[in-house]
Amino acid sequence: MARYFSRGQMLRLEPEVRSLVNALCDKLLRSTDGPLDVNTAYSCLTSDTITQYAFGDSTGFVAQPGWEPNYRAPLQTFLDTVYVWKFFPFLLNIIRIAPYIAKYISGDIGLLMREMFEVIPARIQKAIEARERGEAEANIWTDMLESPLLPPEEKTAYRLAGDGFALMFAGTETTASMLTLITYYLLAQPATRQRLEDEIKDMDPRNLSWVALEQKSPYLGAVILEGLRLGHGLSSRAPRVPRDEDLVYRKGGYEYVIPRGTPIGMTSVHVHLNEDIFPDAEKFMPERWLDENGQRRHDLEKYLMAYSRGSRMCQGINFAYCVLYVVTAAMTLRVMPRMSLYKTTEEDVKYDHDLALAQPKRGTTGVWVTIS
Ligand code: HEM
Repeated sequence: MARYFSRGQMLRLEPEVRSLVNALCDKLLRSTDGPLDVNTAYSCLTSDTITQYAFGDSTGFVAQPGWEPNYRAPLQTFLDTVYVWKFFPFLLNIIRIAPYIAKYISGDIGLLMREMFEVIPARIQKAIEARERGEAEANIWTDMLESPLLPPEEKTAYRLAGDGFALMFAGTETTASMLTLITYYLLAQPATRQRLEDEIKDMDPRNLSWVALEQKSPYLGAVILEGLRLGHGLSSRAPRVPRDEDLVYRKGGYEYVIPRGTPIGMTSVHVHLNEDIFPDAEKFMPERWLDENGQRRHDLEKYLMAYSRGSRMCQGINFAYCVLYVVTAAMTLRVMPRMSLYKTTEEDVKYDHDLALAQPKRGTTGVWVTIS
């Protein structure tokens, strides 16, 4: 899939992202009739961007009259069960019967199952047929089907739907929760927001470009990196297995050898909250990513683990950055001047526990805002 997520591909997609972001800002500016959960609004946007890109057919959540339905609650329900599957993997056998019972299950899990077994396979089929009729360019799915490298069992409709679901899941709540955390801190720290606004205020807020923003505003980049640091991304210990070499770790005159074949996992939280690397680690301080000339400190970026590292690191990193840059800038210029936090404190975004993705304290209802 990698070539579909290159920076060049993302630049081709950018006009679609921009028009969805403009629609999101317009809709938020009309939402003056009461408090709203900003994570849900972002979840609608990220579902639309990823489905538009991966299937050529958007979920249309931003365009609908309200904010429901969306995938936020169903995906959260899925996250709530993540450790059950992890520690009792034999229970995954239940999934074999899931396609047959999906239509009889109600609520969030039912929605999620229908998405996986009906909606996503139909979207993939549509993308394949559009290509066959010559109406669409090659896409992720037609490339997989035509790939001589993949064995037939990797090309079944069931298997492709699994990949489609993984993409949707990987691209939706991750990016939405980062945007939510960044929005919280920009609203809670007016000086931070002011500095950002000052750096980008002469840009056309309806025609923002990722590349131009990157060049124009190191501070925007720093705000995003700080959001990714405190948002942690995947906080669970995603394991890696060194297959061909023993790992040697030296500390205090001792040498420890971890034999090849041993799964090793580490959480991003340990690095992101390490006071030796990030002093006052619990604080949201974008300045830490800039040097004394206000330019990006690239030496520090090697400690950013939100996208993980190595051969299994996030494939959607360019996609995520494009969305994070354009949304944060558009919200800062267009919506945040009229937006205030509503019954929300730092506790509602701060890392508390791990459910694959970093979670705030139990019982929080998220980041709520009012728009005047
Ligand atoms: C800020 C947003 C995002 C964060 C923090 C994030 C984080 C991550 C992390 C930590 C992993 C590695 C998982 C592991 O170690 O096993 C990962 C994998 C992945 N991500 Fe993301 N992600 C984000 C956005 C996206 C988006 C927008 C997409 C799709 C467009 C995406 C697609 C993927 C895919 C396909 C993988 C699997 C890569 C592989 O196993 O080879 N991600 N992501």
